[in-house]
Amino acid sequence: MSEELLQQVRLHGAVPGHVAIIMDGNGRWARGRRLPRPLGHHAGMGAVREVVAGCLEAGVEVLTLFAFSQENWQRPAPEIEALMGLLEEYIAREADELREKRVGVRILGDLDRLGTSARTAVERVMAHTAGGGALALNLCISYSSRAEIARAARLLADEVAAGRLDPAEIDEDRFARELYTAPWPDPDLLIRTSGEMRISNFLLWQLAYAELYVTPVLWPDFTRRNLFEAILDYQRRERRFGRVSV
Ligand code: FPP
Repeated sequence: MSEELLQQVRLHGAVPGHVAIIMDGNGRWARGRRLPRPLGHHAGMGAVREVVAGCLEAGVEVLTLFAFSQENWQRPAPEIEALMGLLEEYIAREADELREKRVGVRILGDLDRLGTSARTAVERVMAHTAGGGALALNLCISYSSRAEIARAARLLADEVAAGRLDPAEIDEDRFARELYTAPWPDPDLLIRTSGEMRISNFLLWQLAYAELYVTPVLWPDFTRRNLFEAILDYQRRERRFGRVSV
């Protein structure tokens, strides 16, 4: 079934180069099964594997996943521990395969807030998969977009204060170079699962012209088939970037 959809994606041409996903609904998935919330996150890890495989099959070049926000630090300690444990488990299990498939993993966010063992794991996977050119997989962890933008402003202010930068040189391109996402083009497509119509402090600068796709599917149920459906929907859209169509 997913093969057929993949064929359609290929026939339509223009695959989004950069797909960003707000993975939402793990808690509701667990509640629906009378399971503890961490089991919803555990099931969500399977969906991460699915979308990585789907992006490789479809030819998406950059996949940016919102895995843990700065606001998520306010969740109960056992849930935070479970999420950090899952991140370490994902890295331990997948690092070799990701490297084999030439997936280059980067972690975007305030890594200073991570505990020692999560920090070591993320540094290990970044080094282990560095240079993987088939797909850039960005995991946003301890990430908030406003904090990222404030950090970029601070870095530019430091440059100005040190006499290395003239404020007149600060334009959109120069600013974007201080964001975590500097190496990649902006997302073409933003997918949010579980039906919520919010951006939730995710890539506020970078999503300026992204096409939005919201699906009621809860994240743990999301498969590559759902990804291909989202891409097909994107391929039917007309992107004008503020201009008129010709
Ligand atoms: C939102 O669901 C999801 C998260 C806060 C965490 C996403 C994490 C994973 C999918 C685990 C694996 C990730 C990696 C990168 C290995 P929610 O808890 O807000 O759900 P709810 O809105 O239904 O309560």
